Amino acid sequence: MSGTSYDPAAFHQFEHEGWERLSDGYHRHWEALTTQAVPRMLAGTEVAKGMRVLDVACGPGYVSGAAAAWGAATVGVDFSQNMVALAQNNFSELDFQTADAEDLPFPDGSFDVVLINFGVLHFPTPEKALAEAFRVLKADGKLALTNWAKSDTSAITIAMKAIIKEGALDIGLPEGTPLYRFADPDECESVLGEVGFSDIVCSELELTWRLPESDTLMDTFSQATARMSGLLRAQDPDRLPVISAAMEEGCAPYHQCGVRVLPMPALLTIATKV
Ligand SMILES: C[S@@+](CC[C@H](N)C(=O)[O-])C[C@H]1O[C@@H](n2cnc3c(N)ncnc32)[C@H](O)[C@@H]1O
Repeated sequence: MSGTSYDPAAFHQFEHEGWERLSDGYHRHWEALTTQAVPRMLAGTEVAKGMRVLDVACGPGYVSGAAAAWGAATVGVDFSQNMVALAQNNFSELDFQTADAEDLPFPDGSFDVVLINFGVLHFPTPEKALAEAFRVLKADGKLALTNWAKSDTSAITIAMKAIIKEGALDIGLPEGTPLYRFADPDECESVLGEVGFSDIVCSELELTWRLPESDTLMDTFSQATARMSGLLRAQDPDRLPVISAAMEEGCAPYHQCGVRVLPMPALLTIATKV
């Protein structure tokens, strides 16, 4: 699976426009979810005081913030200026820069650890970004990346089932990297091995999304994620209330004391530049 059957430039533009628009909504709705993966990433890459850590696709800066709290010297990069501004606002003492994951502005061998939390599924050519991560790592440096796992009960599946049932999928959005490509351990091993990484280890993460009753699942996707927001914006507006109702119906089994506790399993992959 090389992921080259689509136009990378069109997907890049689509993702960039989406993330520039959605930075605040992402921070509001997704912080409590994606941050759950971070301690496992830091532990798995053995982040320690004084190490140089690169946070690729840093978004609002959560990974940088956590790595700095572990004593690392961090740099966060994201291709969205609005995300970089948000990260800088969240962690004013840390270093954030606007840069593309597929063309990193750092010399070879500059970092001990590279961390990509839920970024790789958004890159038009993930092989390029992973080759860049390999290049900027020192010998023995470690990479960690996360990707949503494919599961019948995940909030992503609940949302997609509602769109398939009540809306439309063939609405001309640019195709891109398959959402679950890096949820497949064989694919992770193959791509990372090809780039030059060794000791590739995948583990499952059982993340859960605690959605307050006041937030619809539709809001959390349409205000916060490039691909799902693009898909929802392209629906017939008259269908949106029905799609939202179908999403809420899908969430019904997960109500607990005023919140919906939705499964959001993920795959964590760790690799070493030997
Ligand atoms: C799902 S968010 C993840 C944010 C953050 N890492 C976290 O832990 O929540 C994906 C991020 O990837 C960024 N991104 C997408 N494509 C990128 C690229 N080609 N280069 C750099 N950043 C990119 C987006 O702007 C967005 O901030």
